[in-house]
Formats: sequence, C-alpha cells, structure tokens
Amino acid sequence: MADLDDLREGSDFGLDKEVAGQSFYLKGCDHLDWGLKDRLSRIFRKASGKTVMLAFDHGFLMGPTSGLERIDLNILPLAEHADCLMATRGIIRASVPPTYNKPVCLRSDAGTTILTDMNDNVVIDVQDAVKLNASAMAIMLAIGDPKMEAKTVANLVHTADLGQKYGIPVMGVTAVGKDMARDARYFSLASRVCAENGANIVKTYYCEGFSNVVASCPVPIVIAGGKKLPESEALELAYNAVNEGAAGVDMGRNVFQSDDPVAMIQAVSGVVHDGLTPPQAFEKFEDLKGQ
Ligand code: R5P
Repeated sequence: MADLDDLREGSDFGLDKEVAGQSFYLKGCDHLDWGLKDRLSRIFRKASGKTVMLAFDHGFLMGPTSGLERIDLNILPLAEHADCLMATRGIIRASVPPTYNKPVCLRSDAGTTILTDMNDNVVIDVQDAVKLNASAMAIMLAIGDPKMEAKTVANLVHTADLGQKYGIPVMGVTAVGKDMARDARYFSLASRVCAENGANIVKTYYCEGFSNVVASCPVPIVIAGGKKLPESEALELAYNAVNEGAAGVDMGRNVFQSDDPVAMIQAVSGVVHDGLTPPQAFEKFEDLKGQ
C-alpha cells in the first residue's frame, strides 16, 4: 500500500506540452495490440482523433426513462450521426439492426437498481462481447463509494484482463453517486485509477479544472453529458470539454431528450469533429431542427 502519510497532490500537469513520443493518433495507445487499435480506430475518427458516442444504456438502471421509451423510434434515427453506440447487450440484440454496422461500446456490467449493502455488481461473459462484435466494453468504477468501490475495481481489472486477451478495449466509466464530489480532484483520481487498472478509454464528467483531469489521465477521456440542459448549454459543455482536451463525448440525455435529437446530435458532432463554436453549433441545431 502507498505511504498515505506522504501523498502530495499533483500540481505540474505540463498543460503546454504534447505527450512525448507518440506515433498512434490516440493518447497512450502506442503499445496496444493490433486488434485493440483496430477497434479503437472504429470508435475514434482518425481525422479528428475524437468520437461522438451515443449513450443509451440508462435503462439498465433506470428503466424506460424519458427519451428512451422506444429505442426503435427514439434512438435508431440518431444512429447514422453517431460514431459509436453505447448500450447493453439486451438493447443491442433486441433493437439495433446489425446491418447498421456501427461500432458498439457494450455496457458490460450490471448492478441493482437500488443501492444495497451488498456489493453485487457483475460483469457479462466476454464471449458475449465477442459475439456482439463489441468495439469496447464499458465498466463502471465507483471510487469513494464504500459499498461499491472494491467490487467495481475488481470488475474493471477482470474485464481489462479479458480485453487484453481478446483485443477488446475497455472503457472505465467513472461513477458519480449522490454524495460523491464532482470536482477535478475527484474526477482526476477516478480517471487515473481507471487507466492504471487497464482502461483504454475513460468516461468522466466535465468540471472546473478539467484540463488537469485530462492531462493526468494517460488514455483518451470522453465526457458524459449528464442531466438535460438547454441545447445551447449542452453544446457549450461539449465545446469546453473538447477544448480542454477531451477526445469527444459519450452523450445521452442531452441528445435523446432534446427538442430535436437528430438536429442535436449533428450539432454536437459539429463541435467535436469540426471545431464549431457554441454559437455556430447552436445555429446548426436551429437550422436542422424540424427537418
Ligand atoms: C453512465 O453510467 C450512464 O450509463 C450513461 O451512459 C452516461 O451517464 C452518459 O449519459 P448522459 O449523457 O445522459 O449522462
């Protein structure tokens, strides 16, 4: 165990310096095996180095939330504008036609819909991820949660072992519980713990001081959108995150609960891949709305 008496918080993140000696276009991925790089290249566009993942895995904990009542009606029209689809195996098999041929970031863990004293999160069989041709497996890490941290770290480590074995990247999903901090210190810790334990991608949240979170995480970070915001604010959130180093978004509610989800995902993509500013992206959203 680290000597906790001498833990000093990091302060020099080298924000003005590129990561040294990289040849592959994604951070920290130079030394990965061919299959891992091939799958990561399906998720992250080479031209921009970024991705727009569409997250619609919410139902595995929350049931049919607003905007996800009918995947066929709510999500399929958005799929062509997403770089990657993030969902559970049940929804992928039941509702997403394989002919879409979209990379899938498979939600690969599951827990109870209520928090219990038992630490009973589980992960799916990696063979099912192989059968679904998953381009990544997403696993939650609940740092700081006394009920769930140990089990979720074990789940991540187990899945990272299998990911290395079968060439499937693992995305660490940093959890945010009701009582957990949502600041750069917490997200830096959670993101770094994900990467140190073998995650090839980290999903976390935008916060003040986000550039330090990105700089101290050795693999690409994508941000979740969080609760629904007005479209202009959600576009600004995506812009700030990408500007401060995020390799894209893994956005759900701010897309599928938008007044016009098809227009919104294209506006988000404009920010992520084409460098649109928030006003330009909002104009794009307004132009596409209702079409
Ligand atoms: C995270 O664990 C959830 O499953 C969602 O995938 C994630 O929060 C992204 O969705 P949203 O943008 O709605 O926060």
